[in-house]
Amino acid sequence: MNSFAAKLIGWQKQHGRHHLPWQNTRDPYAIWLSEIMLQQTQVSTVIPYYRRFLQRFPDINSLALASLDDVLTQWSGLGYYSRGRNLHRAARLIVANHQGIFPRDVEEIRQLPGIGRSTAAAIAAFAYGERCAILDGNVKRIFARYFGIEGYPGGKGNEILLWQKAEELLPSPRDADQNRINGRIEAYTQALMDLGATVCTRGKPKCAACPLQSGCIALRDSRTDRLPAPRLRKPLPEKETVLLVLMKQKMILLEKRPATGIWGGLWCLPEMPVSKNAIEYCMQNFEMKVKPLAQMQPFDHIFTHFKLRIYPQPLQVVSCSTAIGSKGQDRGESIWMTPDDALNAAIPSPVRKLLIQHGCPQIIPS
Ligand code: ADE
Repeated sequence: MNSFAAKLIGWQKQHGRHHLPWQNTRDPYAIWLSEIMLQQTQVSTVIPYYRRFLQRFPDINSLALASLDDVLTQWSGLGYYSRGRNLHRAARLIVANHQGIFPRDVEEIRQLPGIGRSTAAAIAAFAYGERCAILDGNVKRIFARYFGIEGYPGGKGNEILLWQKAEELLPSPRDADQNRINGRIEAYTQALMDLGATVCTRGKPKCAACPLQSGCIALRDSRTDRLPAPRLRKPLPEKETVLLVLMKQKMILLEKRPATGIWGGLWCLPEMPVSKNAIEYCMQNFEMKVKPLAQMQPFDHIFTHFKLRIYPQPLQVVSCSTAIGSKGQDRGESIWMTPDDALNAAIPSPVRKLLIQHGCPQIIPS
């Protein structure tokens, strides 16, 4: 076995994580779920969500049979809901096209919505012992430092180079064949994840504890603080919007967003263009008489392609049409909820932030 893989596997045995809830299983569904949740969320946050989700939807079939609403409600608070939407869609595709059995082949796994090359490889390695290379953000950081690779690791040229390294460094096929029995590829894959999460961290890496320190170029050249290079980003375009916090008897009005577009399918505070007057807007759109409440702080929410400045506008409802808060509004489904119930529903993370942090005494959840 190459010494890179051997060192990592030896280190993982002693210092790696062995009791995460998605370890010590071969269930591809459970492993898939964990890898999706872990894509943009840290382990400690994922664990309770992972357990609850598995309890509610223990297998592919139960997930496929569930409504999207139920799935997104379970996802509430994890953020990046497109992961939940893709998971649900993929479960239905597996039922429709694979007799409900999670595909075995890494290329077929990769065809499923929400699963990229690295996630497919992690699932194939952990569930089936397949010799497949992963390359997530943590692994890119390890390789960029170890090989002293300049430039942003997510750039086109570096991606190709890093995937090449990832493939080359895998435990050799002969080892892997033997090791299908004793799990070398699993240990190696887990080692990379564990090293990236606990030793080769972005800030203040613990190089003295690293099994790869003798070969690491960034450490040799004292450049761990400059590698990997950050992404050079053009400033994001800025947009702005008003979120109406309409309050009636300690409840707030939420609207179901259309299935496509930002916050698709989530429950959201009604949105209003900043150019409009809130009082007139509520009258015209909701037949609601409202009066303004104490101002709340505006705040920014960063999407991948733009920055959204959010102006929360708290309003007390003085009188309103009974139709609001029921199905079939022009604007879509809407509902009055207590802030506590809203926090348990599938709401976008800036709405959650607003309800929790943004200092409107009238809506502080109990
Ligand atoms: N991050 C991504 N996949 C992971 C896993 N299986 N264990 C720990 N952290 C991870």
